[in-house]
Amino acid sequence: MSYQPPAIYGIIGYPLTHSLSPLMHNAAFKALKVNAVYKLFELKDDEELKLFFEDLKQEGNPILGLNVTVPYKEKVLAYVDSLDPFAEKAGAVNTLAITHQRKIHGFNTDGPGFLSHLEELNFSLKGKRIAMLGAGGTARAILSVLCLVNQRPAGIKLYNRTLSKARNLVEELAQKMDTSIVAVVDSVEDLNVELADCLINTTSVGLKAEAKPLVDPGHFHADMLVYDVIYNPAQTDLLKAAKAKGAKTSNGLGMLYYQAVLALNHWSGVDIDDKYKKVMRQTLESSLK
Ligand code: ATR
Repeated sequence: MSYQPPAIYGIIGYPLTHSLSPLMHNAAFKALKVNAVYKLFELKDDEELKLFFEDLKQEGNPILGLNVTVPYKEKVLAYVDSLDPFAEKAGAVNTLAITHQRKIHGFNTDGPGFLSHLEELNFSLKGKRIAMLGAGGTARAILSVLCLVNQRPAGIKLYNRTLSKARNLVEELAQKMDTSIVAVVDSVEDLNVELADCLINTTSVGLKAEAKPLVDPGHFHADMLVYDVIYNPAQTDLLKAAKAKGAKTSNGLGMLYYQAVLALNHWSGVDIDDKYKKVMRQTLESSLK
């Protein structure tokens, strides 16, 4: 039998030191004896990004699929040959599938991944009042999917430290979707967390233990879900405070898992097997214990 070089998958971004994606994908490739490897491609600046894509287009390049993370989710739009409708509307790409003819197809699985996790948590969005923190890349994907979903929330209040960024984000999304349910507020108090059915934190506050949560814990209540996209630490101070008030809580590990499953579906062209998914989920969960 002749030697078959492994198919190459990976993630582009900077920095990449904390990414759990290689661990998750390589564990699944190994357990299921798939001849593939998932690598880190740290690209320091726009010039390196440009050169990387020039290479990616070349015949014989072995890379068949990529994830894209900070700070390139928006910049890669310039390099794709086609975009799936959700990625086009959200204006961000986190998954690239590359054909043998070296055509690059862009997808966004962050938004749908978030929805899949909410479904797993049995949280229905229909008619709900959502409070959201942050206006970065993660907020863009989540906000887009909340506006585009069939069972729409009643309203979304959005707060960001830099107010203009939140306004610009909503203004930009408004050109591609109905954002009439979104209101940008200029203080955390105006989120009215005490009346919300769900608070979603998309900011990086909580990654480091010393930062105080943005929301006053006094506003949390038992009839709400508090969702923090941060998964390391597994329980941020925000989630601890919400739990203490009886709220249902979740970190973002499920979102990370579902976006990866959806990315693999795009790369393989089929819905991946449950055995595969189980290895991915278990690897993620045990890596953070
Ligand atoms: P990601 O892709 O993970 O969303 P990002 O695009 O860098 O990352 O966005 C980070 C988010 O965290 C932003 O909303 C940022 O607020 P600003 O737009 O004001 O920068 C928010 N953030 C980061 N540190 C913060 C802090 N100390 N207080 C409040 N918000 C913070």
